[in-house]
Amino acid sequence: MIKTTVKKAHPYINGEWVETNRESVLIKSPYSGEVVGEQVLATPEDVENALASAYASKKQIANIPSHERGKILKRAASLLEQGKERFAELISLELGKPLKNTLDEVSRSIETLELSGEEAKRLTGETLPGDASERGTKAIASTFRVPVGVVAAITPFNAPLNLVCHKVGPAFAAGNSVILKPAPQTALIATELLKLLLEAGLPKNAINMVLGGVEIGQQVVKDDRINVISFTGGVVAARNICELANMKKVLLELGGNASTIVHEDADLKRAATLCARTGFSNSGQSCISVQRIYVHQSIIPTFTDLLKEEVLKLKIGDPSLPDTDVGCLVDENAAKRVMNWINESIQLGVTVVCGGKQHGATVEPTILLNPPKHSKVVCQEVFGPIVSIIPYETIEEAIAETNDSSFGLQTGLFTNKMDLAYKVAHSLEVGGVVINGTSNFRLDHWPYGGVKNSGIGREGPRYAIEDMTETKMIVLQLPINE
Ligand code: SIN
Repeated sequence: MIKTTVKKAHPYINGEWVETNRESVLIKSPYSGEVVGEQVLATPEDVENALASAYASKKQIANIPSHERGKILKRAASLLEQGKERFAELISLELGKPLKNTLDEVSRSIETLELSGEEAKRLTGETLPGDASERGTKAIASTFRVPVGVVAAITPFNAPLNLVCHKVGPAFAAGNSVILKPAPQTALIATELLKLLLEAGLPKNAINMVLGGVEIGQQVVKDDRINVISFTGGVVAARNICELANMKKVLLELGGNASTIVHEDADLKRAATLCARTGFSNSGQSCISVQRIYVHQSIIPTFTDLLKEEVLKLKIGDPSLPDTDVGCLVDENAAKRVMNWINESIQLGVTVVCGGKQHGATVEPTILLNPPKHSKVVCQEVFGPIVSIIPYETIEEAIAETNDSSFGLQTGLFTNKMDLAYKVAHSLEVGGVVINGTSNFRLDHWPYGGVKNSGIGREGPRYAIEDMTETKMIVLQLPINE
């Protein structure tokens, strides 16, 4: 059991933690309901000061040599390694994510910071001879990656440490100043990470953090001192951001209703084990959580039994205990919404193979059998512990069903036929396909992102840095007769 010490989350503006004369709200553990902290909210004036500070410091941050930026990020990674348990416990407490998952998240965050530090030193360019054009016989161009200026990082609650590292790490590695607006549900973890980054040597004016709700985010997004907005979250908020952004570059990492295809020749035990493990980790609150499992009709009974067997092994309970597999959702309202979707399926005549019950903010891992195509659990993003088994006859049908979605983030595919796997992978309209794994597999150096309503751009330090820098070209034009 984690010992609770009430902590405070503060905005960080112009190099100072602000705490006085501001409205504050209590932070409660979604699992136990006990007060674990307090969050001081930023005022519109604070946001204005943050914007002014970020804008004023951008040249100074851009002038820090990349080897120094790299060292700071690597120091942050090693401080996080030292504080691994403390951070993992705090995420469990604030979010209700099981300790097993949060230890994994901290390890991934360490890697994300290290990778960002390494990539800081790989900002290269090209030399382009001009003689490919008749007019350029005596010209030569060199390109450089230069920072965009100010990056606004708007981050979600579900991976509150690693997804902040995925934005702040590359943004600073590229030489930008950052304004961070973390999810209100996980302000404590963002505050602790910011303290760690400052301890690692991040210059005081390289980052500002504003805490609060939607209006605070909107004030940031609208402001023309921001050059790039990097957002992870839902489609509705993303549309709103795009409307307010007014021609700024917007990077979006959004949701999905990820599918995993289990073909007739697959290793069913492996498929079932991985679907159980990655369909319910963090109670399904991941953009790539296994949601729709398309299973060849000939193996439906066997696969359903195997999946049920694996799911029933999952230990549901206190997220702070080391052997818990499934904790709670972010709050009770989220659990109620998930239950409504399950009940809607039941009314449509769908069989509940297991689960389907709510206890506070916890919903039992739930398997549904063959819900209709138009039902919410199939066509919308569940972001909760429900997976649906849906039969298909031909692989073309599984591809068509996967593609018949407004989303396209990642898909898993279990088959031992590699020629088929590659053919299917090329036909799927998604950002990534995992062969012999589920949709819910990501390594932090890989390009991560989707097509359609799943987003614009790719995360992963190397790819994010491309979007957080501009190409600057310098041309040398020699006199034509030399
Ligand atoms: C997300 O929900 O998009 C993050 C998934 C991950 O990093 O594993």
